[in-house]
Amino acid sequence: MTTTPPLCVGLSLAVTWLTGNGWRRPDSRVEDIFSSDFYIDIARRAEAAGVDFLFRPDSLFLDPGALSKSPGFSSLDPTLLLATLARETQRIGLVTTASTSFYPPYIIARQLQSLHWLSNGRAGWNIVTSMDGSGNFGSEPFPSSAQRYAQAAEFIDVVQALWSSYPAEALVYDRGNGLYGHADRVRPIRHRSAHFTVEGPLNLPAFPGRRIPLFQAGASHEGRDFAARVADGVFAATPDMTAAIELRQDIRKRAARHGRDPDAVRVLPGLSLYLADSEAEARDMFAETHRGLGEARRYRVIADNLGLDVSSMPEGEKITLEMLPDEDRNVRSRTHAALLRRLIARDAPTVGDLLSRPEVAGSAHWLFVGRPADAVREIERWAHVGAIDGFIALPGGSDRSVALLLGELLPNLQLSGLFRSNLSGLSTEQRV
Ligand SMILES: Cc1cc2nc3c(=O)[nH]c(=O)nc-3n(C[C@H](O)[C@H](O)[C@H](O)COP(=O)(O)O)c2cc1C
Repeated sequence: MTTTPPLCVGLSLAVTWLTGNGWRRPDSRVEDIFSSDFYIDIARRAEAAGVDFLFRPDSLFLDPGALSKSPGFSSLDPTLLLATLARETQRIGLVTTASTSFYPPYIIARQLQSLHWLSNGRAGWNIVTSMDGSGNFGSEPFPSSAQRYAQAAEFIDVVQALWSSYPAEALVYDRGNGLYGHADRVRPIRHRSAHFTVEGPLNLPAFPGRRIPLFQAGASHEGRDFAARVADGVFAATPDMTAAIELRQDIRKRAARHGRDPDAVRVLPGLSLYLADSEAEARDMFAETHRGLGEARRYRVIADNLGLDVSSMPEGEKITLEMLPDEDRNVRSRTHAALLRRLIARDAPTVGDLLSRPEVAGSAHWLFVGRPADAVREIERWAHVGAIDGFIALPGGSDRSVALLLGELLPNLQLSGLFRSNLSGLSTEQRV
């Protein structure tokens, strides 16, 4: 047994097990990814395994060029999808994604509160400032990441004010006296500022007793500060343990500076899991999933994030910080750019090494390839050194990987005392 607090475990509904060549497996059910049955099946399996919450990332654009090999960001609307799952599950948290760069805050306040009611208090909001898609919202050129965070900070204030503007207690349903509710308990918010003008109140009462937990992703200075001020959970890209420890310590310090209990913000790295019954099988599955894919995409990731074209360099050439242009370029994600620079400063990798790293080949997430029992040991190792408060599982390669996560890894994590499976990871007291 251990004294480490129980981990909070989410499962990504980004169907990560169909990425790469995963969708080509005969049993992949790739034809079903726009049908509710596909997600209901996964959601029920995850709930039965005690997963704390389902997490649906989102983008608001299509990359048609990518369609020859992948869904290219094709996606159902995440909040509508989770509303469907609300009826088919009872206890699992449902975390949707909504961008503060593109939507009006009134709509998001209403959608989230609706999901919260429809799921009996299980909604969560993954707050993103987005990396792409501005062409669909008339807002080109896309504002810098720092500008997007300034807007996000205001956005959250508006949404929280709207959630408070119509408290559940305003409604009394006093049939005898014919008093439906106390009109004076419902107040306009009269928000006027640089980005938004919102009168309020919201036209939906706040769900009583349990507030909506907030998630955030993006680990630049502004991103971390934003998370430390408002988030309950941080979806983190941490390709190695040192990156996770640094991020978690920093977020905790910043939370304390904002007058919050550091334990109130949970750092939850994405964990890519290629699981099989033997290590050799898992390695084969990992290789098969990535075979023949993505050389051009990897060169582009490096060029976009670092401003360096390595496509004509020999595989064995070492990359050093001196070869990189200025750090202050406007990149889509400073989080991913900083992780790459950090890797180069630390290891001076060769071009070949760089191309195979999770920072380039994946989304810079923690990667495990092997047996469930060994994954449990690795998770324990990260938990015991204070690198994580939980993780968001991104099973890769095949549905078998999903089955082993739910059927072996999580039960073994429970046995180790690290995971309590009470689906309490997100239940939080009412704050609004
Ligand atoms: C791990 C991670 C996951 C993200 N997921 C999404 C997402 O699902 N949808 C989205 O629009 N943006 C997503 N983003 C983008 C962030 O919201 C943010 O706009 C971007 O990282 C820039 O912030 P930064 O400067 O702090 O890196 C993600 C970023 C990270 C690091």
